[in-house]
This record gives sequence, structure tokens and C-alpha cells, in this order.
Amino acid sequence: MAMPALMEQVVDGPEGYEGVQAGPEWAAEVRRLAKARNATILAHNYQLPEIQDVADHVGDSLALSRMAAEVPEETIVFCGVHFMAETAKILSPEKTVLIPDQRAGCSLADSIKGEELRAWRAEFPDAVVVSYVNTTAEVKALTDICCTSSNAVDVVASIDPEREVLFLPDQFLGAHVKRVTGRANMHIWAGECHVHAGINGDELAEQARTHPDAELFVHPECGCATSALYLAGEGSFPADRVHILSTGGMIDQAKAAKSSQVLVATEIGMLHQLRKAAPGIDFQAVNDRASCRYMKMITPAALLRCLAEGADEVHVDPEVAALGRGSVQRMIAIGNPGGGE
Ligand code: 13P
Ligand code: SF4
Repeated sequence: MAMPALMEQVVDGPEGYEGVQAGPEWAAEVRRLAKARNATILAHNYQLPEIQDVADHVGDSLALSRMAAEVPEETIVFCGVHFMAETAKILSPEKTVLIPDQRAGCSLADSIKGEELRAWRAEFPDAVVVSYVNTTAEVKALTDICCTSSNAVDVVASIDPEREVLFLPDQFLGAHVKRVTGRANMHIWAGECHVHAGINGDELAEQARTHPDAELFVHPECGCATSALYLAGEGSFPADRVHILSTGGMIDQAKAAKSSQVLVATEIGMLHQLRKAAPGIDFQAVNDRASCRYMKMITPAALLRCLAEGADEVHVDPEVAALGRGSVQRMIAIGNPGGGE
């Protein structure tokens, strides 16, 4: 296969693309190849800044799922992790869906398997199964309604209050939804994301103590979400400056923020879009080591290879996709239409 001329400058990266660096020439080549393939590039808010900047659309999981269902192009290049690209394929089975590196997994999606969900459902046969979108296609096929962090509360609130709910796999998001909806008949799977679970309450409390005038943006997958609300509840931090938000919700809130400094508890890729959305605000990570190694597998070299070679293509078994499609379509129909650009 003929390599783009740009490949000659390189040193490290996928085979044949070693050392590709982001820059104007790289961006022009990415755009040229995307056009030639009739492809649209979607990027999650946790992607590397250069990947976000070259994409057609950047957003949170919900906004990107909605885009995937609507975009007119024949090919979707998903710069995110594997379950996101799988969700795009479930929604648009007739399209070609590519991910620049199929090894980009998710520790949260790995925290529940299809057979575990089957056994859990057997214990509660009348319950409604609500799965976070961070799950495999197999788990989605066993689910009644999917949700993302931006519509999880609306999804659970839409369910008959008499029905039990099995919420999976994220325990911190589940606790947040249970708190907000006040729903007692909700059972929560004990899964977690290694990145968000690692942003702990002590770290958050220390940052809040040393930045008393800041606002706090906390993703509900964080281990520290409960601590943030505890600080607000006991009065050691003003409650109106604590916001539990999806990544898309953080961008909307950034535009409305009144403080000149915001402490951000989520994956650090988020800082790029926040700084673009509100350049006058000083955004600081609560934990600057909170980087998702899976999200960061989508490198400039991997994206170039993906567009040049049409790889890695995402396949979902058509029967599994058909079973999961209803739960994902219910998800994209519920909640705030925002969350992306
Ligand atoms: P959102 O973009 O929906 O807030 O999700 C965050 C996340 O962890 C995706 O992996
Ligand atoms: Fe999965 Fe966590 Fe990475 Fe998001 S940040 S993709 S939940 S491992």
C-alpha cells in the first residue's frame, strides 16, 4: 500500500508510521484523507488536544452517539475508546466505523461481562436494566435502557417508580443517580473506572481548602463526587460552587462560571475544551495524573494510519447489534440535546 509522503519524516508509532508528529502538514493530510473517504471524525473530550482540534465534532459520549446516528458521511472515524465506536456501529450498522487503535479499551466497560449480567438479571427478573454506555455490545444487548453521565438521572427518573432498577456498571455514577432521584429500589453494580476512582476525596478536599474562591467541576464517575457534596453539605465549601457534571455539561457550565478559577475532577484531556470554551478562566486539574491510557492510544500517527489504511474497522455481530439497538436508541432520545460542538 502506498504511504502518504508525510510518513517519511518519522521515528515512533504504528508500523510504517513511526514518529508521525501533529502539525499543520499532518492536519492537512488528515483532512485530505477524511474527505477522500467521505469520513467524519468524531473525538471525545478526553482525546489529545491535537486530535480534538482536527476532528469534525468534539463532545461527550451522548453528543457523539447522537452525531453517529445522524451524520451523512459513509464512514465514521471514532477517536475515543472501543465501546464508543461499537455504539456508533450499533446505531449506524450500514456505515463503516473505524477506530484508530482497536486496543483502546475501558476499565469500566471491562468491569461487567455478559454472563455476570445474565446472572444478576435472573436474581431480579422484573427489574429494569439500566447500563451506562461504557459497556460492551454484549452487555447492551441484555439492557433495557442505556444512559451516559449527562442523562443518567433523566433515564432513571423516566422508569416507573414501582419497578426495581439494576444500574451498572459504575458505582459512583450509580450513587449519584440514587442520591438525585431519591430512588430506594435501585441496585448498583460495584464497577469503577480506574482513572476516575483514583481522583480521591482527600485530594479534592486539599485542593478545595487551598483554592477557597474556585468552583468545582466533578465528573460523577469520580471517587471524590461524594466528598465534594459532603464538603458542600457541611458548609466547608459553598454548595452553589460545586457542580457534578458530564464532560459536555462541564463545557456549558464553564461558559456560565462566575469564578476566575475552576478545579476540574475528571480525565485531564477535558482541560483543552474547557480552556477553549472559557479562555478567561484558570482551569486546574484536581489530579493532574488522571490520564486515561486508552484514550491516549489515539495518537496522531494512529489517526493517520486509520485514514490511510481504513483500519481498524469495528464489527459488531448483527444479532447482538439488533438486540442492543433499542437500548441505545432509548438513551439518545432522553435528556439534554447539548454536550458537543
Ligand atoms: P462523558 O463524556 O459522557 O461524560 O463520559 C466520560 C467517560 O468516562 C467516557 O469514557
Ligand atoms: Fe473508560 Fe475511565 Fe478511560 Fe473513560 S476514563 S474510557 S471510563 S477507563
